[in-house]
Amino acid sequence: MDTTLIKPYLKWAGGKRQLLPEIKKHLPRNVTEYTYYEPFAGAGAVLFALLPEKAVINDCNDQLIMTYICIKKEVEDLITLLREYQRKNTKEFYYRLRNLDKDTQSFNQLADVEKAARFIFLNKTCYNGLYRVNSRGLFNVPYGTYKNPPICEDRVLRRISAYLNNRDISITNCDFEDALAYADGRSFIYFDPPYHSPDKSGFTGYHANGFGDGEQERLRSVFIRMTERGAKCLLSNADTEFIRDLYKAFEIIPVQAKRAINSDSARRGYVPEVLIKNWKD
Ligand SMILES: C[S@@+](CC[C@H](N)C(=O)[O-])C[C@H]1O[C@@H](n2cnc3c(N)ncnc32)[C@H](O)[C@@H]1O
Repeated sequence: MDTTLIKPYLKWAGGKRQLLPEIKKHLPRNVTEYTYYEPFAGAGAVLFALLPEKAVINDCNDQLIMTYICIKKEVEDLITLLREYQRKNTKEFYYRLRNLDKDTQSFNQLADVEKAARFIFLNKTCYNGLYRVNSRGLFNVPYGTYKNPPICEDRVLRRISAYLNNRDISITNCDFEDALAYADGRSFIYFDPPYHSPDKSGFTGYHANGFGDGEQERLRSVFIRMTERGAKCLLSNADTEFIRDLYKAFEIIPVQAKRAINSDSARRGYVPEVLIKNWKD
């Protein structure tokens, strides 16, 4: 199986490609012997960099997870539709596809492959590549006017599909806590939650319900429970006092990452982040 060219097929707020060199320095020794868990998978930058033999990838975003499943099961039909959308790419076409979710009944009747092609098309052509839903869960980003957006990366999609089919990869769409039900001492978990944002200026629009301080606290409880089960856990988050205090019992490693996606252009650039690790080598 040829795994070259494999990379995230979406732009995703909080995408981890910039932080990969730091993350790679802090993986467990013999990482390939572990079942890899990514309960907040997003575009999967770490998954596609590690390409584990056995993994559980999860996200609460149903459109995102349906798209992973379509790439796994229906990649040729998906590519055919994406080629068509690439030819039709105009502002008018964008708003026609974007507005489909306003009518829930007819949206639900679309085939999964049509929803997945819509999701990828909107992701590649929307303003800043920023997936964002409003409080009613509707995708609400304007058209981005890119010159030649790579809407149909057929070779990347085919190789991702082959990887998902030829390895033992479970793809789930649930809350992070439920996704870890079977994690144990042979698991390596990389947590990449929506970042803590004390002044609420960070990006939190992945999901209509948001991810506030209470959710960060619930995540810390899960991190502790997984530690008690013997799983190796690595977590990234913003470097804030609140996060440092939550994880003070663990090793906290400061790192700097370049962030391209932020709704406020003044906040793009290098932002202080931390990696939190629950084991010593
Ligand atoms: C920082 S992003 C992950 C970025 C990803 N590592 C990447 O490289 O693209 C956080 C993800 O958590 C997901 N999420 C938010 N709340 C969640 C929850 N309660 N359970 C599972 N996933 C959740 C969001 O949909 C989003 O995709």
